[in-house]
Amino acid sequence: TWTTGSIVEEQVAAIRAQVGEKRAICALSGGVDSAVAAALVNRAIGSQLTCVYVDHGLMRKGETEQVEKDFVASTGVKLVVVDAAERFLAALAGVSDPEQKRKIIGREFIRVFEQAQAELVAEAGAAGEDVAFLVQGTLYPDVVESGGGTGTANIKSHHNVGGLPEDLEFELVEPLRKLFKDEVRMVGQELGLPEEIVHRQPFPGPGLAIRIVGEITPERLEILREADAIVREELTAAGLDRDIWQCPVVLLADVRSVGVQGDGRTYGHPIVLRPVSSEDAMTADWSRLPYDLLARISNRITNEVRDVNRVTLDITSKPPGTIEWE
Ligand code: XMP
Repeated sequence: TWTTGSIVEEQVAAIRAQVGEKRAICALSGGVDSAVAAALVNRAIGSQLTCVYVDHGLMRKGETEQVEKDFVASTGVKLVVVDAAERFLAALAGVSDPEQKRKIIGREFIRVFEQAQAELVAEAGAAGEDVAFLVQGTLYPDVVESGGGTGTANIKSHHNVGGLPEDLEFELVEPLRKLFKDEVRMVGQELGLPEEIVHRQPFPGPGLAIRIVGEITPERLEILREADAIVREELTAAGLDRDIWQCPVVLLADVRSVGVQGDGRTYGHPIVLRPVSSEDAMTADWSRLPYDLLARISNRITNEVRDVNRVTLDITSKPPGTIEWE
C-alpha cells in the first residue's frame, strides 16, 4: 500500500537515478504542483536543482513573499527570482481584451524564463556542468487528459504560466505524474512545505490581470490585491477556505456607480465575489456562503479599500459562466 512517506522515498530514488550528476531547472509558479515537484527534486538532488520564479507583478498580496521566503526556508531550495513586474506592466499597458492579455503574459513569461534559463546554462557550462533536465509538476489527470504521452511538455499553454515551450534540449522530470491533487498536497505536507502553499486554491497563471475587467494599472492591481486579501482572510477565519473550490475576486475597473459614505457622494468601482464549488473546474456551482460572512466581507471591503463602493455576488453556475471572468 502507498503511504506518503513511501511515495517520497520512491520518487527520490527515481529522480536520483534519472538525473545522475547533471543539473536541473524548475519554473516555480507559486502554485502547489510546481512547489511540490521542486521540493521533491530538491530532496533528491539538492543544489543540482535551480528554481526560477518569474515575478510578473500580478500575484496576490503576500504570494511572492511566500515563495521567496517561506518556500525557500522550508526546503533550502536554490532560487533565482526574476523581478519582471515592470516589463509585464509595460507590455500590458492599454490592453483590455482578455485573450490579448493572456497572449501577452504567456509570451513575456516564456521570454523571461528562457533568458534566465540561458544564463543558468551558460554559468553551469563555464563550470563544466550540464543543465539537462526540466522539472514539471504534471499530475495524473494532466497525463490522462493529454493522452498519456511521455517525455514532452504537455501543458495547455493558456492554462499555465509554466506552459513552457517544448524544448528538446531538456529531458523532463515529472515526479507527480502518478498522483492526484490530494496526494500532491499530502506529499507537500510530508516535505514540510508551508500550509499556505500546500492548501492554496487554484489561481490562474495570468494572475490578477484576468481579474481586472479593463486595463491593468498599478493602482487597479493594488485595489484588487487589498479586496482579495480581505476575502481570503475572512474565508479562512470562517473555516470555509478548504470547503470551496476557489473564490476569484474581480474588479470591474471600467464600471463606476454612485454611492454615499459619511456625508459625501462616492463614485467608485464594484467588486465581484465569485465563490464556487467544483470537483474539477470543468463544471461549477456558485457556493452558498453564509449571509453573515458575505456581510462581513462586504463591510470590510467598502470600508477598507479605497475607490470600491459596492460588493456584488456572482450567482452563475458553470456553464454558462466560466469560473474566471476573463
Ligand atoms: P474557467 O475560468 O475556464 O477556469 O472556468 C477553470 C479553472 O482554470 C483556472 N484558470 C487558469 N489556470 N492558467 C491557469 O493556470 C490560466 O490561464 C487559467 N485560466 C483559468 C481557473 O482559476 C479555474 O480554476
